[in-house]
Amino acid sequence: MSEHVILTEIVDRVGVIRLNRPEALNALNLAILNTVVEAAEAFQSDPNIMALVITGNDKAFAAGADIKEMADKSYIEMHQSDWFSQWTRFTDIRLPIVAAVNGFALGGGCELAMMADLIIAGPNTKFGQPEINLGVIPGMGGSQRLTRAVGKSKAMDMVLTGRMMDGEEAERAGLVARLVEDDKVFDTAMEVAQTIASKSRPVVMAAKEAVDTAFETSLTQGLLFERRAFHALFALEDQKEGMDAFSNKRRAQFQDR
Ligand code: HXC
Repeated sequence: MSEHVILTEIVDRVGVIRLNRPEALNALNLAILNTVVEAAEAFQSDPNIMALVITGNDKAFAAGADIKEMADKSYIEMHQSDWFSQWTRFTDIRLPIVAAVNGFALGGGCELAMMADLIIAGPNTKFGQPEINLGVIPGMGGSQRLTRAVGKSKAMDMVLTGRMMDGEEAERAGLVARLVEDDKVFDTAMEVAQTIASKSRPVVMAAKEAVDTAFETSLTQGLLFERRAFHALFALEDQKEGMDAFSNKRRAQFQDR
């Protein structure tokens, strides 16, 4: 058994969460759930942290929710504990989250990757929603987020047959933002996160909120939300700094205010 179910570190202004149950292909049990959300919230409360990277290991990002932990649960236990609802604390994180995904990202693993804001993967990454083979359906967002990411036909294919999709297919389908060599996945995710870290923290949060709003509202409401958020950013010193830096042909030095 791994002593620590996750490993965390801070690299410059990026908080890294590494799932660390290699003996169970990083199956997501309650201990992982709680430590991941606590770590993400702790990173967010540190004003120096600008973005998060979540990753696993070469063999598995995560092979799903922990089947052995769930197997004997009753309906009433699942219902009354509202099993998996705690993950909304992860999707409430306002900082951008980059998922660096190698190996298996199945069931809850695929769903956790989709809770991140963007996914970096390699050709040998294997995404899937195989819950149908266990006599259940996705329970951490697969039927909703996968459908929004890849459309109805492919989501139905994945959810109804339980087949896996490799990194290339996932990139073609729009699930993966950048497909890179398998051994470059983590470094690329860190580069993306470091690039975000060079921006203004409140502006980054506003940008994430605006894109997320596209999934929650009508176009008219979303456009209004975007425009009002855009207007509000003119209250920031970082807006003045960004536009002054452009005019004076220099690099902006954002102060996060
Ligand atoms: C618990 C798991 C696990 C999981 C793997 N393990 N996935 N334990 N929950 N989701 C454990 C295995 O039992 C095994 O432990 C060890 O990890 C290594 O796995 P192997 O199967 O021996 O590895 P391999 O032969 O390489 O096969 C890899 C695999 C397979 C194809 C990914 O492990 C697999 O099919 N896993 C389950 C994938 C899945 O169905 N995911 C969805 C879960 S449900 P031991 O002790 O035997 O060495 C879900 C959402 C549920 O995520 C929502 C409903 C409410």
